[in-house]
Amino acid sequence: MDAVLSYLKRNEGRFLDRLREHLRFQSVSAQSQHRADVRRCAAWLGRQCREIGLEAEVHATAGHPIVLARTPRRPGAKRPHYLVYGHYDVQPPEPFELWESPPFEPTIRRGRVFARGATDNKGQHLAHLNAVEAYLKTGTDLRCDLTFLIEGEEEVGSANVEPFMRKHRRALLCEAAVISDSEMPSLEQPALTYGLRGAIGMEIVLRGPARDLHSGSFGGAIDNPAMVLCQMLASLRDAKGRITVPGFYGEVAPLSPGERRRLAAGSSSGREFQKLAGVPRLFGEAGYTPGEQRSARPTLEINGLTSGYQGEGGKTIIPAWARAKITCRLVPDQTPERIRSLVIRHLERICPRTVEMRITPRRGGSLPYLMSPDSAEAQAALRALRTSFGREPVLIREGGSIPIVSEFKSILKVDTLLVGFGLPDDRAHSPNENLSLAAYRLGSRFSACLWPELASLGRRR
Ligand code: BES
Ligand code: MN
Repeated sequence: MDAVLSYLKRNEGRFLDRLREHLRFQSVSAQSQHRADVRRCAAWLGRQCREIGLEAEVHATAGHPIVLARTPRRPGAKRPHYLVYGHYDVQPPEPFELWESPPFEPTIRRGRVFARGATDNKGQHLAHLNAVEAYLKTGTDLRCDLTFLIEGEEEVGSANVEPFMRKHRRALLCEAAVISDSEMPSLEQPALTYGLRGAIGMEIVLRGPARDLHSGSFGGAIDNPAMVLCQMLASLRDAKGRITVPGFYGEVAPLSPGERRRLAAGSSSGREFQKLAGVPRLFGEAGYTPGEQRSARPTLEINGLTSGYQGEGGKTIIPAWARAKITCRLVPDQTPERIRSLVIRHLERICPRTVEMRITPRRGGSLPYLMSPDSAEAQAALRALRTSFGREPVLIREGGSIPIVSEFKSILKVDTLLVGFGLPDDRAHSPNENLSLAAYRLGSRFSACLWPELASLGRRR
């Protein structure tokens, strides 16, 4: 173990170079102009895995490639097997003008590396690769087998991973999965995340007149699709922050007093959270704390809203169309299918005849996830956090979604240990995304400390 930790220390400079190289790829999964960049990033990752000493393959899918890499197996030895998941795709970098340094030119300032994908998720999965390199290059026995599955479509819903997992199911069967793609409250409070929200998304287009019309000649006698869309969307939430879609809360499991206490212990204060968000005032569903609202209660949000003239000056028109992108975050026991159909049915009911509506549901969707922090694996992860960070870890539930987690449960029948090295001000999905270099180092240390803890549990399935 000492050899592994001192290897990590000695190679910090190289690991930083590795991260910077990874961050230069414009692996934006949502944008077709970056298809080749995504593929090049996967190929680079495959080569890194091989240099580290893993057996790696880059698999083509109907979408972006999947990198599968494994520690060399010992013939005959039946050892515990763990699956490490990550994603090398990133969110779109726009708006460019708000970045202090270009999103794909990693730049170090104030002990952080700034680039799209730094925290979400390139730095976090590289931390695990650094740790396994330390084991392999120092000849230290891992005492367990590891498989890395690093995909390129997480940020667009992971639709092609499920068929891949079914096809490779036998190679992926394991004791548990491990994902570092979430956050901790601070460097002094490492965290095990025991819950995530699920998600669904859709796009709504309203069409009115056959073309943009003169708002003087026509206005008053025809409807305005932008106005209609705003009215429809605004009616989806009431003044108390409750979603008005009938049946929306039907499957929501109530929060037990014990769970509410646990959430309170792991949450930042409302004031801190307000500062982080940069809002004049917090807003959320009445009857719940901000910590509960953003991790254990469902939401419906507008993510994008477009219509009419956006250029310089004014333009007196009635727009031909209006479009919105919306998503819902889901909590136990809501399901993507049910919420998707409830929302669509409700929109169809409230849409007036003066416009034509087309709804395109986004593929996939993600189930909410909740695991017991009392399991042997979770306790092992907490011990590894304690030794690597030298601090007492906290238990948190997070509001983000990682679609694959429910597939690990349904296809492989395993829980996922979610231990993230992101920090609340990492700006994931925002301009100036960054990763703390200390978090990157501590994450690599944590990974090194995790495997002996998990290996000691032996084979459990
Ligand atoms: N790393 C995030 C998920 C996350 C965010 C977990 C914050 C915990 C805290 C992940 O990369 C992500 O952004 N997922 C998407 C999934 C969606 C496209 C289905 C998300 O949550 O928006
Ligand atoms: Mn993300």
